Order: sequence, then structure tokens, then C-alpha cells
Amino acid sequence: MKKTDIGQLDMNAVRMIGDEWMLITAKKGETANTMTASWGGLGVLWGKPVATVYIRPQRYTKEFVDAGDQFTLSFFGGDCKKEMGYLGKVSGRDEDKIAKSGLTLTDVDGEPAFKEAKLVLVCRKLYEDDIKPELFIDPEIDGKWYPDRDYHRMYIAEITAAYAAE
Ligand SMILES: Cc1cc2nc3c(=O)[nH]c(=O)nc-3n(C[C@H](O)[C@H](O)[C@H](O)COP(=O)(O)O)c2cc1C
Repeated sequence: MKKTDIGQLDMNAVRMIGDEWMLITAKKGETANTMTASWGGLGVLWGKPVATVYIRPQRYTKEFVDAGDQFTLSFFGGDCKKEMGYLGKVSGRDEDKIAKSGLTLTDVDGEPAFKEAKLVLVCRKLYEDDIKPELFIDPEIDGKWYPDRDYHRMYIAEITAAYAAE
């Protein structure tokens, strides 16, 4: 992968995240875990390029994201959706799902990411908070998405590096 200036990349975050999906990957000690995500954002905050991700409290990956300061986002440009479907259905608590997925872990700036990715963003956590039900302006969202009261944790992270497949 080639280190790339994120400002020079032509990206459509709605398509990349919402349609093509991404893998959020982080490490805890010697192990890594990953999960599929189709909610999130890419933008600018506090003068930095940032990624925002939303992780429900029951995800095993949350323990890994919480364990350190960094995580990665791997994008596959519409490929590997079968693998991402699996990684988004099974928990790393129950299976060695990365090995079973057929995707290959690699090290990017010391963080786990995926070799098959078309783009890897290395992210450094800046801010986190839970979605709070009392703050919904449109109360329908609460009823529709949170019947189990499992409000997402929001993480805003600086994109410290971008690597594109060569
Ligand atoms: C297409 C797709 C998108 C998903 N997006 C999210 C998301 O944005 N946030 C989230 O918390 N879970 C999301 N999930 C669910 C997790 O990926 C799923 O629960 C996964 O098995 C968690 O694995 P883990 O327990 O090993 O972390 C998504 C699943 C799929 C299939």
C-alpha cells in the first residue's frame, strides 16, 4: 500500500461507508478484532481530517477500540462484501472470525488492518460519547433503532494516515 495524502483522494463517504461498507479494526495486546460498519462519517473537525464511527456497546470490537488510542478503517471499494457480511454477523467472541473470513490481517503504522483493502485509514481517537435518547430531536429514531436501548458509542478520530492499494 502507498501512503497517500487524504486531501488528494476523490472520495464519496456516503457510498464508501453506506453502500460498500468498511471494517473497523483494533488491537488489544497481541490480538485484533474487526467488525463491519455501514454507519459513520468522514469530514473535518478541529482543523483535522476526521472519521466518525458508531459502535453498539455489545460489540466485541468495542473492547478493542477502547483498549488503545488508535483503530483502522479498511475500505474494499465494493469488493469482499461476502466476507464483510460474515464479519458483520458473527462475533469475535464466538469464532476466530478473521481467520475464517479469508481476509488477511496486516500491520499499518503499527495497527491491524486488511491486506485486501483498497484504502486503509489510520485513526487516532479524539473524542467519544454515547448517543443520548433525551437529545433526539426526531424521537422516531429512538423507537426505530434502539428498542433494546443499546445506544451507539460515537468515536471521533483524527485520520493520521491514508494508505491506498497500488
Ligand atoms: C452491513 C453491516 C453494517 C454494520 N454496521 C454497524 C455499525 O455501524 N455499528 C455497529 O455497532 N454494528 C454494525 N454492524 C454489526 C456488527 O458488524 C456485528 O454485530 C459484528 O458481528 C460485531 O462483531 P464483534 O462482536 O466481533 O465486534 C453492521 C453489520 C453489517 C452486516
